[in-house]
Amino acid sequence: KTGVITLDPGFANTGSCTSAITFMDGEQGILRYRGIPVQELAEKSTFVETAYLLINGDLPTRNQLSRFSELLNEHSLVHEDMHLFFNNFPRSAHPMGILSSMVNALRSFYPTLEGLTEKEEINITLTRLLSKVRTMAAMAYKMSRGHAVVYPRPNLSYCANFLNMMFDSPVKPYKMDEDLLRALNVFWILHADHEQNCSTAAVRLVGSARVNLYAAISAGIAALWGPLHGGANQKVIEMLEMIQENGGDATPFIKKAKDRNDPFRLMGFGHRVYKTYDPRAKIMKEMCDKVLRVLNLHDPLLDIAKKLEEVAVEDPYFKDHNLYPNVDFYSGIVLRAMGIPTNMFTVMFAIGRLPGWIAQWKEGASDPNWKLYRPRQIYIGRTDSRFVPIDERG
Ligand code: SDX
Repeated sequence: KTGVITLDPGFANTGSCTSAITFMDGEQGILRYRGIPVQELAEKSTFVETAYLLINGDLPTRNQLSRFSELLNEHSLVHEDMHLFFNNFPRSAHPMGILSSMVNALRSFYPTLEGLTEKEEINITLTRLLSKVRTMAAMAYKMSRGHAVVYPRPNLSYCANFLNMMFDSPVKPYKMDEDLLRALNVFWILHADHEQNCSTAAVRLVGSARVNLYAAISAGIAALWGPLHGGANQKVIEMLEMIQENGGDATPFIKKAKDRNDPFRLMGFGHRVYKTYDPRAKIMKEMCDKVLRVLNLHDPLLDIAKKLEEVAVEDPYFKDHNLYPNVDFYSGIVLRAMGIPTNMFTVMFAIGRLPGWIAQWKEGASDPNWKLYRPRQIYIGRTDSRFVPIDERG
């Protein structure tokens, strides 16, 4: 069922692995967390319940969920001395750079506790990560604007606390919107895991050296920041804004994306595994319409995105290359509707992906034969060269 499968040492050399966490079928567009279709979890679960499922392997009982939520609240504060870190980043610092640094610094403020079993130590560390990364993201946002930091509240759920920490103010209390709260749960459920993507592979690779979990997660955040990976959600909005500035005409952008000599890619399109529509993008697209409707908002970028999708998916180049919208194509529209600033979009992806990173690291760490990742190469350089004294060089 979910027994530890001893990996062939060869896996450790290639970066591949066996896993019982997430199943993807790129041809059929199937995504399941611990066997449950992501569509069902998006419809019926919460982010905290899905995080528990990914990390522990089964859906929690009512008591287990209640205890997990309590622990997340207990560990939701960030050491006050860490505020000094935030204050010393330049105001222009990208939140992903701040987050990766702060997560790595967590080990310094939360060293190994004496007297705990390894299992207890792992559980408290993963709970701290899940809760404090969310708190730190909101802190980074508030401090970047010179606003007072809002502390987590014991009576709010994980997601409600995030929205409150982001948007509450001493002079203008934040009014929780249940529709937005549901949208945030779904947004994070859709991002929660995705088998061996770039950032998860980074977490497993760095973790295989037996470094602490905070450092391994910090490496995952750094990898996710890349515009070809999690950073794409910010790039999609920037691309849609450029199309908007071009009078809504995407023709030149599609032309550039098809030009092999042009490094420009249609952001939010294509996927290493999905060669059909990303199942998450379907749900995200529906959520755009729903969130904008309940908020009585109109976002012209959604119209531009839908028109771009219509044109691109019918274009022979995109058809031949099996290029369809991925999770990042519509996600930014949902975040804009929530009032999240564009430079925080990838941070939102990182908070969502945390349970997956943790579950994947835990799966590796629970394998008694967890080998150090040490991929090999095919050497194509010079052989049998000799040292040449500097005066004899060309
Ligand atoms: C995420 O792995 C995961 O699971 C990631 C993720 C997760 O949940 O963790 O799903 C999250 O990272 C989604 C992807 C977000 N990135 C983007 O939207 C950036 C735009 N997309 C591309 O850069 C690209 O599609 C990748 C990087 C996502 C995947 O590309 P591959 O599989 O590495 O393929 P490739 O770059 O070698 O492209 C194959 C062909 C090439 O054409 P040829 O040279 O063969 O003629 O397809 C073309 C590429 O030029 N192509 C695109 C394109 N994506 C691929 N051409 C134009 N626009 C694009 N978006």
